[in-house]
Amino acid sequence: MSTQFLAPVIAEDDQEIEQTLRPRRLDEFVGQERVKEQLAIALAAAQARGEALDHVLLVGPPGLGKTSLAFIVREELGVGIRTVAGPALERKGDMAAILTALEPRDVLFVDEIHRLNRAIEEILYPALEDFRLDIVVGQGPAARTLTLDLPPFTLIGATTRTGLLTTPLRDRFGMTFRLDYYEPDELATIVHRSARILGVEIDDDAAREIARRSRGTPRIANRILRRVRDVAQVRHQGSITTAVSEEALALLEVDQAGLERTDRELLGAIAGKFEGGPVGLSTLAAALGEEPDTIEDVYEPYLLQLGFIQRTPRGRTITKLGREHVGAAPADETKLF
Ligand SMILES: Nc1ncnc2c1ncn2[C@@H]1O[C@H](COP(=O)(O)OP(=O)(O)O)[C@@H](O)[C@H]1O
Ligand SMILES: [Mg+2]
Repeated sequence: MSTQFLAPVIAEDDQEIEQTLRPRRLDEFVGQERVKEQLAIALAAAQARGEALDHVLLVGPPGLGKTSLAFIVREELGVGIRTVAGPALERKGDMAAILTALEPRDVLFVDEIHRLNRAIEEILYPALEDFRLDIVVGQGPAARTLTLDLPPFTLIGATTRTGLLTTPLRDRFGMTFRLDYYEPDELATIVHRSARILGVEIDDDAAREIARRSRGTPRIANRILRRVRDVAQVRHQGSITTAVSEEALALLEVDQAGLERTDRELLGAIAGKFEGGPVGLSTLAAALGEEPDTIEDVYEPYLLQLGFIQRTPRGRTITKLGREHVGAAPADETKLF
């Protein structure tokens, strides 16, 4: 039940709540101070000149605020936004239709931009550089290229890792912002804000406890808060105390380090089945019944950050800290058998 509760793939109703909790303006966006500062300057400059903002690439693990920032940019500029998921675009014509429908200075938000197919990506190059769309009409010797002018617009791309982007695409972004995991203090601020919006009372200690166990990720903090609120309402008087949050976290099987069952299974598999590693990503994914991409984007970054696993050229290995966390025997002992 817990893995479902906290599953990285968001259920529809969760998505609705997520929208209500989403910060709307730059000053409501907690943390990531350097990103906010640079973005604020770029926004003010573009506004003053009456121009479209430079194209922006947002990079970071899921749940750190990429989509929120894209909508904040739209809000701050007072323009329209069109959002698409990279993998959802199949034909060049899909992208051409979207581009030609943009109004001047609009934001085009492409989520998972690393998953755009190559042909569509190539349409984007002249569109990004010169606000020009080249369309080939006809076939064979009769084929001609038509060039359409596009309104100046801002592409905001979101991706989990920059390494996934082709160089020509990466080079066309004027700004790249990397989002880092949040500090517990920042997450506690986010939890307090969300509790206010959800209309539930929460002790500061309880907010800190949730923050500490949220893997540095606002989306997880908000999700835990909602489940804790359920426990508070169903089993207690409705307000969230430290005792209530601890009870709920135990129920959710979120441990002291903020790890969920899948994280622990991953560590356990490397330590046990694969004798500490190195084990290749696809082998590990198959053992856990997860997609390699999910392991790499959702689970691994925080385990790496905690120093529980390491990525080597030959595969993933578990560290001493990681073994201690899952209570596995140290490497030397297991290797004896
Ligand atoms: N800096 C932040 N301040 C406040 N809330 C945030 C912040 N970043 C993310 N959130 C919350 O986390 C949720 C997930 O953020 P989102 O922008 O969808 O992340 P991403 O697109 O990177 O996966 C949002 O709905 C919002 O409630
Ligand atoms: Mg997103």
